[in-house]
Amino acid sequence: MDARSLGELEEIRIAYLGRNGRITKLVKNITSVESSERKSIGLLLNDTKSTMLSLLKEKENKLREGENTQFDPTLPGIKKELGHTHLVTQAINEISEIFENIGFRRLRYPEVEWDWYAFGSVNFGPDHPARDEWETFIVDNKPDKEMGQMVLTPHTTSGQVREMKRLGPVFSEPIRMINISKCYRRQSDASHVPMFHQFEGLVVDRGINITHLKGTLDYFAKQFFGPDRKTRIRPYNFPFTEPSFEVDINCGICEGKGCKVCKGGWHEIGGSGMVHPQVLKNGGIDPNHYTGFAFGWGVERVFLMKEGLGINDLRTMYSTDLRYLKQF
Ligand code: PHE
Repeated sequence: MDARSLGELEEIRIAYLGRNGRITKLVKNITSVESSERKSIGLLLNDTKSTMLSLLKEKENKLREGENTQFDPTLPGIKKELGHTHLVTQAINEISEIFENIGFRRLRYPEVEWDWYAFGSVNFGPDHPARDEWETFIVDNKPDKEMGQMVLTPHTTSGQVREMKRLGPVFSEPIRMINISKCYRRQSDASHVPMFHQFEGLVVDRGINITHLKGTLDYFAKQFFGPDRKTRIRPYNFPFTEPSFEVDINCGICEGKGCKVCKGGWHEIGGSGMVHPQVLKNGGIDPNHYTGFAFGWGVERVFLMKEGLGINDLRTMYSTDLRYLKQF
């Protein structure tokens, strides 16, 4: 059958199998055939009819396929779904860039870490009571004589002495590290998840003092939250910094006057302080000649504090619901 269109094919069908089609007519006239031959001719006609029907169907399918592959420029296009980076990755990229712009170097240190780097080297003795505040997952390994047990690192402060060591026994260049890694703690509620990210700034050089710390914190707050934001520091205590501070940022809604959202004008961001001389010593740096500052904040936490996002449960950031994730 060499019909070139469905129309032509229909014409052929009518010519043979239509009401007055050739085959239909033959079937109708079957009574005029000698009765001895009627049966075999009847079978032959039926066979012919079904062969023709299946050939017609086959051809019809081919023609329809051909129709579908013909390009119709007036049809609306099919939109491909476009992915994007996860909101935590977006936050990490933004934070890295803000610090890289003022000469910090982005680094990462191990997530599964020795007790020595996570605690010992940053001035927590074996039974230091502050260890309780870093609700730590402990790996069930045989403790190393010098390094102790392995832990899932509960804070990016574990990278401080590693970074001091990386630069070698001769302290030849200032440290300006921004360490962004996953951290783990045994906690889960609206503002805590067991796995989260921290970014740790560490600067060590000659003559580093609190004004450098305060200037860096203000710079970050303005870049990340907006030009009108300010930070303040309050005395606090960490084993690895002396003095230590808790950092607050003024509320973006009431500008520090106090409102329903902030209850007092300020939001707490995280810890900071001047690197403890013992930590410098553990990193092989002479505290008589060098000083440093450090801060360590939660990536998810600062991201939540950006205005207008309306995320009130940190756990939702790890939702796998695309309808939720697509909003960012
Ligand atoms: N490591 C501290 C925490 O996890 C934060 C911090 C880092 C504080 C550096 C001071 C200096 O809470």
